[in-house]
Amino acid sequence: MFNLKILVGTGGEVEILLVFKETEKLNKAQELYDYLKKKEIFKGNCGEVYSDISPKGNNVIILGLGEREKISFESLRKAFYKLGKELMKFKVESAEVTVPKFENLCYTKTNMAIAEGLLQSEYAFEKYLSEKKIKPTVKEFFLNILEDKKDKVEEGIKEINNLIEGIFLARDLVNEPAMEMTPVELAKRAKEELEVLGVEVKIYDRDKIEDLGMKAFLAVSKGSAIPPQFIVMKWNGDSSSEEKLALVGKGLTYDSGGYSIKPGDSMVNMYSDMGGSASVIGAMKAIAKSKLNKNVIGIIAACENLISGEAYKPGDVIGSMAGKTIEVWSTDAEGRLTLADALWYAATVEKANKIIDIATLTGACIVALGNVNTGAITNDENLMNKVKNASELAGEPVWQLPSNDEYRDLIKGTVGDLKNTGGRGGGTITAGLFLEEFVNKTPWVHLDIAGTAFLSGEMGYLPKGATGVPVKTLYHLAKEI
Ligand code: BES
Ligand code: MN
Ligand code: ZN
Repeated sequence: MFNLKILVGTGGEVEILLVFKETEKLNKAQELYDYLKKKEIFKGNCGEVYSDISPKGNNVIILGLGEREKISFESLRKAFYKLGKELMKFKVESAEVTVPKFENLCYTKTNMAIAEGLLQSEYAFEKYLSEKKIKPTVKEFFLNILEDKKDKVEEGIKEINNLIEGIFLARDLVNEPAMEMTPVELAKRAKEELEVLGVEVKIYDRDKIEDLGMKAFLAVSKGSAIPPQFIVMKWNGDSSSEEKLALVGKGLTYDSGGYSIKPGDSMVNMYSDMGGSASVIGAMKAIAKSKLNKNVIGIIAACENLISGEAYKPGDVIGSMAGKTIEVWSTDAEGRLTLADALWYAATVEKANKIIDIATLTGACIVALGNVNTGAITNDENLMNKVKNASELAGEPVWQLPSNDEYRDLIKGTVGDLKNTGGRGGGTITAGLFLEEFVNKTPWVHLDIAGTAFLSGEMGYLPKGATGVPVKTLYHLAKEI
């Protein structure tokens, strides 16, 4: 998937010199550094680079890490992402950095953050471009590390490689347009990617979905000529344990809004409405590759939300696997309908004892939190704290929203049990509380990734388009739980 190998050792045509804003002395290229400092050409900001690469040069790149006090795994990821881009610019094939022990930062994790930043710089989705813009050149990057840490660091690099494979897979699945990434194709890709790693993958067709009684999911899928697919992926890493974590991903391979149709401009990127399911498949890949000794089950109700003579309509009253009836106030609030059945299945058929759902669920979440934080709603503060810890390890911020009982009144139905919209105010919260109706009291956290799964421009080490958020959080959660 990527040709960059991160190796422990020494070698490489270019040496990377790490500097803080406060750094005065270098062990190489001191004269150049003094000059750059004096002229204020180089300040040592995080991710700032200065390359001196030429036949007669020092063949070094000076990389800024910002203020010494503010160094973190996240700032290292960002700095080395920038370095990775710089290495490509100068067509460098191999490089080396001496990794110091930073105060308060675990040494193995420091190396893992560096490896991640470098690997992140290699991502590109350019399969439809006649002329590629991003041309990875680096083949080997050497980490010159403390002698006694070799085994731990090599293990950590392996883990990062697995994680990056999961993230890049999630991005590729999302970036593929809806004409290619149909429900059937998504199911096929999940099977292809995961079965070889020992994940058990089952795909249920429309008949089986009907047998299961998934009326809400089926209602959403009715307008599409492509059949819905219910995808179940099981990683049984610990047969001695009853613990079972379910990851339930929204899998709308296209969301036109249905009869509550979206304006044209809002529809263009709606091929990304399966970001939740892609993050589940990506996390399952990383979990299986790293052979985590945990039981994790991935669940996806995949379909398209389109208009046709068969499509569901505003005003319909539909059923659900849980038996609750739902008034359709907007066919564009479709994600929660597909998730309702997927969550009920996770809780009752699979009997998961912890559930996380991941969904590009509401535009309101983008209004509230922008593209930086994923929104969260929970019925279990304990599980919520575990998610928060995992998200911190990952560098994928999550912000919990309140869920006072008063909000529940907004989704009560009159002719049916529930309404599928709760009005404009608190849209992310009412959507989350709608989902809670279908988890059968299982400890659950809902992650609204409408703002974080897909970007209109690069942000830090995240690319334009699909980000793969929150693959890392899901992986760390599965690992630490
Ligand atoms: N998939 C959208 C949410 C979305 C919007 C994700 C923009 C990413 C970017 C979801 O299905 C939707 O349409 N939600 C509606 C809900 C409303 C009708 C209650 C929304 O947010 O407008
Ligand atoms: Mn919608
Ligand atoms: Zn949607």
